[in-house]
Amino acid sequence: MSPDKPWLDTNLDADARARALIERLTLDEMITLIHGPMPNLIQGEKPADALTGAGYIGGVPRLDIPALNETDASLGVTNPRRVRPDDGATGLPGGLALGSTWDPHLAYEGGAMVGREAWAKGFNVLLGGGCNLTRDPRCGRNFEYLSEDPLLSGVLAGQAVKGAQSNHIVCTVKHFALNDQETCRHVVDARIDEAALRESDLLAFQIAIEIGDPGSVMCAYNRVNGEWCGENDFLLNKVLKQDWDWRGWVMSDWGAVHSTAKAALAGMDQESGYQLDKQVYFGPELMKTAVEQGEVPFERLTDMVHRILRSMIDKGLFDHPPEPTEPDYDANGDISQAAAEAGIVLLKNDGVLPLGEGLRKIAIIGAHADVGVLSGGGSSQVIPVGGPAIEKRVSMGPSSAFSSITYFPSSPMAAIRDRAQNVAVRFASGEDKAEAVELARDCDVAIVFADQWCTEAEDVPTLSLPNGQDEVIAAVAAIAPKTVVVLETGIPVVMPWLDQVNAVLEAWYPGTRGGEAIGRILFGEVSPSGRLPISFPRSVDDLVRPEIPGMIFGPPVEGQTIPTSYPDVQQHKGRFSVEHPEGADVGYRWYDRSGAKPLFPFGFGLTYTRFAHGGLELAGGETVTASFDITNTGERAGIETAQVYARIAGRQRLVGWARVALEPGETQRVSVTAEPRLLASYDVSVPGWRIDGGPVEVWVGTDAETAVLKGEAVLTARTMKP
Ligand code: BGC
Repeated sequence: MSPDKPWLDTNLDADARARALIERLTLDEMITLIHGPMPNLIQGEKPADALTGAGYIGGVPRLDIPALNETDASLGVTNPRRVRPDDGATGLPGGLALGSTWDPHLAYEGGAMVGREAWAKGFNVLLGGGCNLTRDPRCGRNFEYLSEDPLLSGVLAGQAVKGAQSNHIVCTVKHFALNDQETCRHVVDARIDEAALRESDLLAFQIAIEIGDPGSVMCAYNRVNGEWCGENDFLLNKVLKQDWDWRGWVMSDWGAVHSTAKAALAGMDQESGYQLDKQVYFGPELMKTAVEQGEVPFERLTDMVHRILRSMIDKGLFDHPPEPTEPDYDANGDISQAAAEAGIVLLKNDGVLPLGEGLRKIAIIGAHADVGVLSGGGSSQVIPVGGPAIEKRVSMGPSSAFSSITYFPSSPMAAIRDRAQNVAVRFASGEDKAEAVELARDCDVAIVFADQWCTEAEDVPTLSLPNGQDEVIAAVAAIAPKTVVVLETGIPVVMPWLDQVNAVLEAWYPGTRGGEAIGRILFGEVSPSGRLPISFPRSVDDLVRPEIPGMIFGPPVEGQTIPTSYPDVQQHKGRFSVEHPEGADVGYRWYDRSGAKPLFPFGFGLTYTRFAHGGLELAGGETVTASFDITNTGERAGIETAQVYARIAGRQRLVGWARVALEPGETQRVSVTAEPRLLASYDVSVPGWRIDGGPVEVWVGTDAETAVLKGEAVLTARTMKP
């Protein structure tokens, strides 16, 4: 290290190194660092150091500042429009599958794996870390998010970010905040009370940021309480930078910048994918003028650049630049498979599962189970190594510009065949009901695969399975001796045939090795352990908003499995509001409030063994610690996720959980300490979190509706910083 390059001195802290650079940067160079294009849409010659990923921010070579090469996202390294020919990646199972694991360790491992592949492919920024709450179960991006609960989402997203950043890259959390519907995401104004926002979506982000310390946060497209997220002084300056004392930089979502001075003054630090904005608001013309005319104080520009450089240095981008290498796809596939196996949720089982001896004929029906498993569409779409099993372009609708219906080449049927020696395993596509029924008539067990494609940019207008699959399942169940349904859905679905079938597995989008994971669960090589991170409604009528605000139904589109929604920006004159009267009562808390019963509650999931719980001891004070025994009383090894709930301000809340693997007959005593903010209310007059002292109802549940141990703890009154 040369002494005249203090920014390369690893003995100095990241702030000092960033300051040393800022002293030497020209105004033009500073502006280079705060805006960038989508590399695919660069007109003319592409900079030599730009990879074809989601975003690019030029560096300053004379000062050793590397360019930022940004790739999506949480579920694997993407390859938008397959611009890097033959460059596949390992696909993790969808976010709700990861959420179903309730396993911080798997979230870390998954994030670390994606980060490792990103770095090996030359990227130094991973646009992962989606942690919006699944506030509406029909949100088209729920498959990228983790859960309806702030604690579960925050812990898992934080661990995933931490894992990703263990590879000398910056990871984001996104989309900040309240981007909880895709319909009209570019115009919707989500309106919510501050305390409710702090106790729900913001708490998920807050916990994720505390655990993961992301170098960057990506703002959302929508408005919150009247202001664009990218111009939202309350969200960016007040909450993120002041209250939470977070030191990283705010990048915009692609096409989410609407101004220069207003955005910069509200706390936006960098404009991403500027070709999608009306003007290059943070570029050489507008930003330079704004700084020269004092509309954006030079100190603000310096702060923007400082935040970017500090994060880059802090996360290792200067000291450990990416070294392109071939990822170990086999080992990475193992990580994805482990997450899929832990994330598959057994929703019903009358004893037909696990499949075992005595089978002669298995009928497999539907969802292209002969060749692969479904994945979700949009910017998070991973192209699997070796290419997809099936890829259908979408011809219409908001997602058609960038989405294809993609099946990963991991065949559930092959995995079943491998485990069913001397059994006739036959397949029907499910497109022809009569053919499916014929196959089902002549089998010992029918396994019906049903799927539902979801994509960024569109919500799903209905909770019903598309393309007549409900009828096929019912018809098969009426004729087959036993029927098992395997769902590959991006969101919860209703199940009009539930009473007629013998078992139901929710496999979500199960990732690169999804077929294998499903096979292992079906045959009992692994006991299912997934627990729902999202309530399954009985009907849209039980939701806060039975109709998705702003959705205008279009005709069904050929080749597309969902009716297309046309969130018509013109029709809403560029602006419309969605009230959130549910406030922080999202998901199971809404059911608690409304009294409606879900089809399957949050936290629910069956397994092949049984558990007993006992010996509850509760300690109160500044927080609550619940200690209790869990015993595996069945004949197989299994994993129990015991959930600790408390009733605070009249409402049920998850305050912690314990996930333990137990051999048959084994007992383990666990101790769960509540995250104190879940025991508090947010009080804007403090301002901060306020725990009302006194007795509080606490219970251990196997899901949000089933309490197995109950008690009371006494809390000490106190307040905590925002
Ligand atoms: C998405 C982001 C993504 C970005 C870059 C946007 O449309 O909302 O999540 O990271 O595109 O691809």
